[in-house]
Formats: sequence, C-alpha cells, structure tokens
Amino acid sequence: MARFHPLKVTDVRRETRDAVVVTLRPRDEDVALFDFTQGQYLTFRRDFDGEELRRSYSICAGRDEGCLKVGIKRVDGGAFSTWVNESLAPGDELEAMPPMGKFFAPLDETAARQYLGFAGGSGITPVLSIIKTTLAREPKARFTLVYSNRQINTIMFREELEDLKNLYLGRFSVIHVLEQEGQEIDLFTGRIDAEKMSGLFTHWLDAKAIDMAFICGPEPMMLAIAQSLRDHGLRDDQIKFELFASGQQGRAKTRAVSKSATVPGTGVQATVTLDGATRSFEMARGGETILDAAIAAKLDAPYSCKAGVCSTCRCKVLEGEVEMAVNHALEDYEVRAGYVLSCQAMPISERVVVTYDE
Ligand SMILES: Cc1cc2nc3c(=O)[nH]c(=O)nc-3n(C[C@H](O)[C@H](O)[C@H](O)COP(=O)(O)OP(=O)(O)OC[C@H]3O[C@@H](n4cnc5c(N)ncnc54)[C@H](O)[C@@H]3O)c2cc1C
Ligand code: FES
Repeated sequence: MARFHPLKVTDVRRETRDAVVVTLRPRDEDVALFDFTQGQYLTFRRDFDGEELRRSYSICAGRDEGCLKVGIKRVDGGAFSTWVNESLAPGDELEAMPPMGKFFAPLDETAARQYLGFAGGSGITPVLSIIKTTLAREPKARFTLVYSNRQINTIMFREELEDLKNLYLGRFSVIHVLEQEGQEIDLFTGRIDAEKMSGLFTHWLDAKAIDMAFICGPEPMMLAIAQSLRDHGLRDDQIKFELFASGQQGRAKTRAVSKSATVPGTGVQATVTLDGATRSFEMARGGETILDAAIAAKLDAPYSCKAGVCSTCRCKVLEGEVEMAVNHALEDYEVRAGYVLSCQAMPISERVVVTYDE
C-alpha cells in the first residue's frame, strides 16, 4: 500500500514574518484518504541533500472548510520549516501520509459543552481546527482560547481569530498572553506558568464549568497547564495534549532496556503484521527499536519524528514484552491496551509479535 501521496500546493500565504499557511489539494482518487478529523496532522517527506526527512504538521483548517491547510512556523536552523517558508510555491507538490493523530474529542451536536484551549506559538494550528469544527458542529458549545505568544506580531491567525469572535458572538473568546509585551491587564503579560494559571482561574476561568481542555505548545507550558487543570478538578480524560517538540530529532535517546529482563542470547524473534501481510525476522537484542528492525527487514513501516512525539509509528504488541524509551504521544489507555511507539520500543522478551494494522 502506498503510504505517501502527492498533494498539490494551491496557495502559500504569509501569516507572520516567520510563518506561512499552505493550502493543499489531494488528487481526485485520494480525496477520501485525506478526509480528516479536527486536530489531526499530516506527515510530509522530502529529500534534503540525499537524506529523506519526515516532518509532521497539524491541519489548521476546520472540517467544514473543504480544504487541507497547514500552518508552518520557521524554526531557527530547521531544515523543513525553513525550506517551506522560503522556497515552497503554488504549483509545487508535497508528498504526505493521510491524516493521523488523536488530538480531538468526539463531537455531539446536541451537547452544550464548555471547552478550553491553550496554545503556545505554532501550537495554535490543531487548536484552531478544533475551535472552528466544534463551534460549527456543536451549536450550543462555548470555547475559550488562551493563546500565548512572544509579541503581538508573532501571533498566528490573529485576524482569523477576531473574525471567529464576531461570527460566534458570545460563544468564542480569546485571551492573548504575551511574553514580551505589556498589556492593560498585568495577568496577560509573561509566560503561562503555575502562577499565571492560578490567576486565570481566580479571575477569568470557571474550572467547574469546563467539560474538556486541549493543550498544544512547548512542553514546560503544557505540563504547567495540565497540572493546574488537575489541581482545579479536571480529570485526565478531560485533558487532551499535542506536543510538537521540534527540537527532538537530534537528541540522544536514553536506553531503557531493563537488564534484568534481558535474557542473554543472539537475538529476538520478531513477527510484524503490516498492511495485511505478516513477516518474521530476527532482530538485535537491545539498542534496536522495532521500527528500525522492521525497516531493515524491508518493511515500509510508518514513522515521522522517530522521537516518541507524533505517534505515526504506533503498533500493537500481541505477544511478548517491549519497553519504550520515551512516550510523549500515547495516552495511558492506549498503553494499557498494548499499543507502543515502535520508534521507541525495544523487545525485552525472546519473541515479540506486533501489528501495525489494529
Ligand atoms: C504531531 C506534530 C504536529 C506538528 N505540527 C506543527 C505545526 O502545525 N506547525 C509547525 O510549525 N510545527 C509543527 N510541528 C513541528 C514540526 O514537525 C517540526 O518539528 C518543525 O517544523 C521543525 O522541523 P525542521 O525540519 O524545520 O527543523 P529540524 O531540522 O528538525 O531542526 C529542529 C531544531 O534542531 C536544530 N538542529 C537540527 N539539526 C541539528 C544538528 N545536527 N545539531 C544541532 N542542532 C540541530 C535546528 O537548529 C532546530 O533548532 C509538529 C510536530 C509534531 C510532532
Ligand atoms: S515516529 Fe513519531 S512517535 Fe515514533
């Protein structure tokens, strides 16, 4: 099965000095494949000097907009985001995997829910898709967005958010928190940390009324917000996260294979099911992930970040035991159900059976 499909770039619009919004169109035969759920992302691949890079970008369009759009912020020294910001033009083609990701909550058009969104910088992209889709499809829903940026001129989608406030008068509100610019209300200046959250809950947000919260931004901000939401009575199943972690790719991975669980021997017998076909091969014990072993065995296993962040490489362990070095992407219930990130998973049993198809 082809994992990547060509998407035609139909528009590249400059959003801020450092970010563009790219509109994409699938081929007619791929339209159904690229039908997405609010909050999902696309994984692109491109060769840079002979090396294939894969990067994920969240869809920022709402489900009812009838198009695919991603917002890409240039990361200093970043290969893919710099190329997109400086060189990508309408008429070009990008190769992408169909939408993936679980950063959403099922919608119910009869519900009257209160939602809270937190976004930091380019973390607005999936949250914007969630806001637009939720307000359009749940007519009684209310949404408050707390959006953190360095300065006013780095705010992505500032005009679109203003338009949404007018379109959904009384149902949508935005609190802009600016790190480096003073505002009339002191609380809205600085970083979002535990103290800021406590101020927001005292003066602006009613924790008891919130049904669901979405958080996307830098990790320290996400952790502080999640802890504060829990302290204010929200359950874990009411808090959804998406981590972008753009600096992960070069980071050395901690080896987490437990020595006591490892039986000395030459290798692990691995059986992998992918796209309906099952293959068995021997892989090295310790140090080699299931994803790397599957790719070495010529299986076209899906992946993007290889850093435990995006969940593109998710598979399910049917037999045997594995340990993950890091997991920033799977929720507890998925891990309990046997899912692992294959880019982080190393077998600790002599035999392991996994499937990418469930
Ligand atoms: C699920 C998901 C959704 C995402 N959605 C979005 C989105 O909607 N919008 C968005 O803008 N981003 C998004 N991201 C982040 C995005 O995928 C990329 O990580 C980001 O654009 C950086 O990629 P890059 O190729 O430009 O940078 P990279 O080339 O990966 O570089 C990243 C950083 O590492 C440094 N670096 C690179 N190579 C080296 C080296 N050899 N030594 C030392 N330092 C090095 C660079 O200077 C840079 O600071 C998302 C990520 C995930 C996982
Ligand atoms: S490839 Fe991103 S989590 Fe494994």
